[in-house]
Amino acid sequence: MTATGGAVPPLAVVTGAGRGLGRCLVRELDRLGHRTVCVVRDPVDAVRLATRGENVRPVVGDVRDPAVGPDVAEIVGDDALHLLVHNAGVAHPPRTLAQLGPDDVLDSFLTHCLGPLRLTQALLPALGRAPRATVVHVSSRRGSFAVAEKDDGPGARHYAYRIGKAAQNMLSLSLHQEFAASGIRVLAVHPGALRGAMGAPDARDEPATAAAELVRLVLTEPWRRLPPFVERAGDPHPW
Ligand SMILES: NC(=O)c1ccc[n+]([C@@H]2O[C@H](COP(=O)([O-])OP(=O)(O)OC[C@H]3O[C@@H](n4cnc5c(N)ncnc54)[C@H](OP(=O)(O)O)[C@@H]3O)[C@@H](O)[C@H]2O)c1
Repeated sequence: MTATGGAVPPLAVVTGAGRGLGRCLVRELDRLGHRTVCVVRDPVDAVRLATRGENVRPVVGDVRDPAVGPDVAEIVGDDALHLLVHNAGVAHPPRTLAQLGPDDVLDSFLTHCLGPLRLTQALLPALGRAPRATVVHVSSRRGSFAVAEKDDGPGARHYAYRIGKAAQNMLSLSLHQEFAASGIRVLAVHPGALRGAMGAPDARDEPATAAAELVRLVLTEPWRRLPPFVERAGDPHPW
């Protein structure tokens, strides 16, 4: 209960909340009355998010850094965590093998897979305290073998992004399988082709629209019905 006797609002953690889809997810969750812990890299983004009010709690951190899990877990404290959204993402420019720097691949793997793995580990006790918790990996069609197999044009040069997102998909599926019988649902979600810094030049979808649909999906879709890899409206996405 809150100090005024009301029910405590549900709690969410969103990474990469400074711009794009992450920022819109925070706005949407805030509009619906959730409390949100937001992981951002830039302190300026943290200051801006903090102006939204007491339900939005920014943390400055980099998901590649092992310290981010303990930092976020400390803020969550003994609360139940209802929703964890691994949204932080990075797209390196497409390269041929001859041009590719292995650091790009490592950066993508750390951002999309190992960072989320560590953060989920750190927040597992809090997720377990919620009667029903959801972990979302904001994935991409580019991490799908079924989609990539048919895209042997310029898309095939996205080595770092494809490898990082495929690793994130496998992490998501493994967690889904480990926790299927428990109160923690784990999903990989392709959010669509979004306008913004990372989006393709012909991307049509507004991040705000995608965020509203993704939040609706997670909060209203019957808890066990969704397949483990979905489009943001809930249709199955091939692995
Ligand atoms: N845009 C698309 O068309 C599209 C399509 C499919 C999937 N996705 C996925 O959707 C998610 C959001 O994409 P978006 O379009 O909103 O991209 P965006 O506008 O580029 O935003 C990405 C966010 O992730 C943050 N970030 C990156 N690396 C981070 C790290 N190591 N630690 C903490 N934060 C980090 C960025 O922080 P800074 O501001 O500090 O850089 C930024 O706030 C990503 O996972 C992306 O892969 C996007």
